[in-house]
Amino acid sequence: MNQTKMTIRDLNLWYGDFQALHGMDLEIPENEVTAFIGPSGCGKSTFIKTLNRMNDLVQGCRIEGNVQLDGENIYSHRYDVNNLRKRVGMVFQQPNPFPKSIYDNIAYGPRTHGIRDKQQLDQIVEESLKKAAIWDEVKDHLDRNALSISGGQQQRICIARALAIQPEVLLMDEPTSALDPISTAKIEELVTQLKEDYTIVMVTHNMQQASRVSDKTAFFLNGYIVEHGDTRKIFTNPEHEQTENYISGRFG
Ligand SMILES: Nc1ncnc2c1ncn2[C@@H]1O[C@H](COP(=O)(O)OP(=O)(O)OP(=O)(O)O)[C@@H](O)[C@H]1O
Ligand SMILES: [Mg+2]
Repeated sequence: MNQTKMTIRDLNLWYGDFQALHGMDLEIPENEVTAFIGPSGCGKSTFIKTLNRMNDLVQGCRIEGNVQLDGENIYSHRYDVNNLRKRVGMVFQQPNPFPKSIYDNIAYGPRTHGIRDKQQLDQIVEESLKKAAIWDEVKDHLDRNALSISGGQQQRICIARALAIQPEVLLMDEPTSALDPISTAKIEELVTQLKEDYTIVMVTHNMQQASRVSDKTAFFLNGYIVEHGDTRKIFTNPEHEQTENYISGRFG
């Protein structure tokens, strides 16, 4: 049993008057992949964004409860949000590289954290692209605009960009839903490798994907976590009828 990297306790979230998350409790184990599944609008994206305080940027959003990273509450007023975003990186549904060269995309984070040395940056760029399994495809044209490569390559550039700041946790919100099957398979394989070094949380609408790559699964419905636990158990012998109905495709 791996150590717990993040602990969520009685988390409630409102957008204005609308309560989007209700009493969420969850543990996210270190060096494992945790998948969030559930029908559209049930709060998966809202919840994953609470893990690095991306909702701070949403006007009218109010949060109560507790999210701990290595035992420290990230919502404490003493907590340094910049440091949090460095430790908890994020990859989105649509690949969103900056309109800059591949090199500058990866070097962006390290530069903002004060690294200026060319040799050091070269090394970070190479290592990050290798970890994201895209080095061989782009190493001969790092000066190419990142928007000029394929969607699947762009998404791996975004993963490399997230890895370049050496996060501990990687949040991925439907990272393959905009990709073709071959790119999707590459990202799934990559996720399986990355969990050796990182803790990964992934939203997916693809049941096969959740069962292939995740160790733990949480099933969301209407702003609640109905059930969470070992992926194999959730997919073969869930406790709740609603989970059973969802994974067998009876709704959602
Ligand atoms: N910025 C916002 N302001 C107001 N309501 C919002 C906002 N973002 C999301 N919501 C609402 O919160 C609920 C949860 O949305 P969320 O995006 O978290 O769902 P989801 O599970 O990620 O759905 P999907 O699978 O379609 O991506 C929905 O009812 C949505 O309309
Ligand atoms: Mg979503």
